[in-house]
Amino acid sequence: MELRYKPEELTKLPRSVEFKDGRVFIIDQTLLPKEFKVISLNTVEEVARAIKTMQVRGAPAIGATAAFGLALLAHKSKAKTKGEFLSEFERAYEALKSTRPTAVNLFWALNRIKKLVEEHGEESLETIKQLIINEAQKIANEDVEANLKMGHVGSEILDKGSVLTHCNAGSLATVHLGTVGAVLRVMHKEEKLKLLWVDETRPVLQGARLSAWEYSYDGIPLKLICDNMAGFVMQQGLVDYVIVGADRIVANGDFANKIGTYSLAILAKEHKIPFFVVAPTSTIDLSLKSGKEIPIEERAKEEVLGCGGCKIAPDVDVYNPAFDITPHKYLTGIITEKGVVYPPFERNLRRLFGL
Ligand code: MRU
Repeated sequence: MELRYKPEELTKLPRSVEFKDGRVFIIDQTLLPKEFKVISLNTVEEVARAIKTMQVRGAPAIGATAAFGLALLAHKSKAKTKGEFLSEFERAYEALKSTRPTAVNLFWALNRIKKLVEEHGEESLETIKQLIINEAQKIANEDVEANLKMGHVGSEILDKGSVLTHCNAGSLATVHLGTVGAVLRVMHKEEKLKLLWVDETRPVLQGARLSAWEYSYDGIPLKLICDNMAGFVMQQGLVDYVIVGADRIVANGDFANKIGTYSLAILAKEHKIPFFVVAPTSTIDLSLKSGKEIPIEERAKEEVLGCGGCKIAPDVDVYNPAFDITPHKYLTGIITEKGVVYPPFERNLRRLFGL
């Protein structure tokens, strides 16, 4: 497929995560939209903390950041022997792996580097370190390429219309451009995006704080709504497509995404609105058969009891699952960098991987 645009023709934003001069740089997403600040992370512990506290978040972005955490170790390690370095590597791998449980991109990126290290166990320590750094850069660059392709694929199959999205699957959630973000940006470039409806996405407000910020920064016409308004907006005929990202898509097409996605999928079905997921193949986990097997992260009760730094509820008990599972029956198609997957998902997802 012909790629009509370069990333810099689609967004004014810089990359969300980079490894430069032996440091990991991220846009601190907890400060947005009040402040745009790039911070540097200088140790594996700092990288793990940034992922846990959601200074960097979004499935592909945490995968790339974790990979850069291992690159940071390779760059900084003072280990004198291979054995010493491999013990440090194992500790870093475990620390990064235990940050967040749901997005498979984290494990995919860490395991890709671990496998490489195992395969090159006979090489010199210096070679192994360089291989880790190169692989992490490759993971990040491939993410941008995949997004660019998904953007073009998506815009090609969608007609002109208004889109409703949930959470943030934009540039901030990836290395650059976004998954949904790339589709929206190419549609906008081609004058196919009438209006973007942005769900605020309680409790952490990735829609209001991040999507509204990054899409308006790029001049995309949008309206922000509270999560409980989506149904009414659909009923009024104001939404042509619902397009969301994913944290993990399993073998039968069920997928985990930000809490609230499942309700949107049901609403979309009721209103006969096509419902698409945009995700790179690094988000697909064929080792799990159904969505029920996906581990769902539960986060602190303070996220629900408060909002924007204000207490909004008495100190009652809270249930705060960060993601939900949408059964594949609600899904129209999955837009990936290798093309669109339509039902039957089980068979067509396997085909995507040549199985
Ligand atoms: O908890 P978050 O903000 O990391 O959750 C992010 C999402 O659910 C995104 O929709 C998903 O990671 C896809 S990002 C391209």
